[in-house]
Amino acid sequence: MYRVKVDSLMLLLWASCTVTRGISDVEVLTPKLTRCSHERAYDMYGAYCGGLRLDKIPNLKSSIEILDFSENRLNELQADTFTNYPNIKFLYLTENQLYRIDKDAFAPLVYLQTLDLSNNVILELPETVFQLPSLRNLYLKNNPLLHLSISNLEIRKPIKAPLELLDISNCKLERLPNWGTIPNLVKYNISHNQLKTIEAQHFASMCALKKVDISKSIEEIKTCDLKPTISWFQIKAISFELDDYSKLNTEEFNDCPSMTGNDLEILNTTHHICRSMYLKFHNSITSRRTWLTVIGGLAGFLVCFMLLLYLMHRHNVAQTKEPSEKIKKVTPKNESDKHASIPILNETSDVSRL
Ligand SMILES: *[C@@H]1O[C@H](CO)[C@@H](O)[C@H](O)[C@H]1NC(C)=O
Ligand SMILES: *[C@@H]1O[C@H](CO)[C@@H](O)[C@H](O)[C@H]1NC(C)=O
Repeated sequence: MYRVKVDSLMLLLWASCTVTRGISDVEVLTPKLTRCSHERAYDMYGAYCGGLRLDKIPNLKSSIEILDFSENRLNELQADTFTNYPNIKFLYLTENQLYRIDKDAFAPLVYLQTLDLSNNVILELPETVFQLPSLRNLYLKNNPLLHLSISNLEIRKPIKAPLELLDISNCKLERLPNWGTIPNLVKYNISHNQLKTIEAQHFASMCALKKVDISKSIEEIKTCDLKPTISWFQIKAISFELDDYSKLNTEEFNDCPSMTGNDLEILNTTHHICRSMYLKFHNSITSRRTWLTVIGGLAGFLVCFMLLLYLMHRHNVAQTKEPSEKIKKVTPKNESDKHASIPILNETSDVSRL
């Protein structure tokens, strides 16, 4: 009898323990699992939905400028996915399961500066990505299937996006896509691919280029086929990252034929075209800035002028009032006038009395 009681008590205790533990687990996990938070960061308004295991973007405030939707389960970006969020400047979609992107998906994002699509399985990358008018940083790294779409991607040239950073590392690429001229590109990461060829011409159309990462990408290319590209990097002081520089210190490499004057001239021409596009881009920005400064200055001058006029007007009004006040103040000091004023005062008081 006693034993049974103890046993049932234990059972009850165990049951309640498991139940409470179950609940507490759920309680601990739920707030993190379902909700995006809205916060202000870097003076911008953003929505943070990282790691919530969501398979679609929930309703968010339409004024957001940052959307962090990394580490979720997004499969597709549709034409209307971002229509409610036209102000997004920074969009992080890394580590989802993206394989399809509609060609109009990014069209509303005219202010988009940074797009991170790394660590996905993109099968279809629309050409329109390269036409985004404000896009400066594009991360496509670790998309093992990207080579399927990128190798036959027809890109409108010159691309409209003012790209400064392009990361296509570890995408199983065998040849680099023909981007045409990318005048503003500074950093280019093409590491961890399986390139079969590499051409100096590709880099001559990137005239602001400072840094290229080609590590783990050129193993399959013959030593002498690397020479023009490496020479071009040296001529233009482009720093390049390699995992093994010893390949370039061999006699074999030194003995490879150097570029002919003709080859160099073609590269120079390409570089020159790129350079004029670069200058045009930056001049248009500078002239826009100059105009804004001029207009701003004029507006400021007008405001100051109006203020000055107003102050002068007030000053004049004050001056026309002041003398009469002075006269009034002065009068009592004058003895004869004092006497004169008294009868007047008396008169008025008489009048009031009447
Ligand atoms: C280029 O990409 C690889 C692989 O994604 C990365 O490890 C490396 O740090 C990147 N290089 C630069 C210069 O950022
Ligand atoms: C190409 O440009 C470099 C420097 O920018 C110059 O030294 C070289 O002479 C040019 N070569 C040809 C063939 O135009």
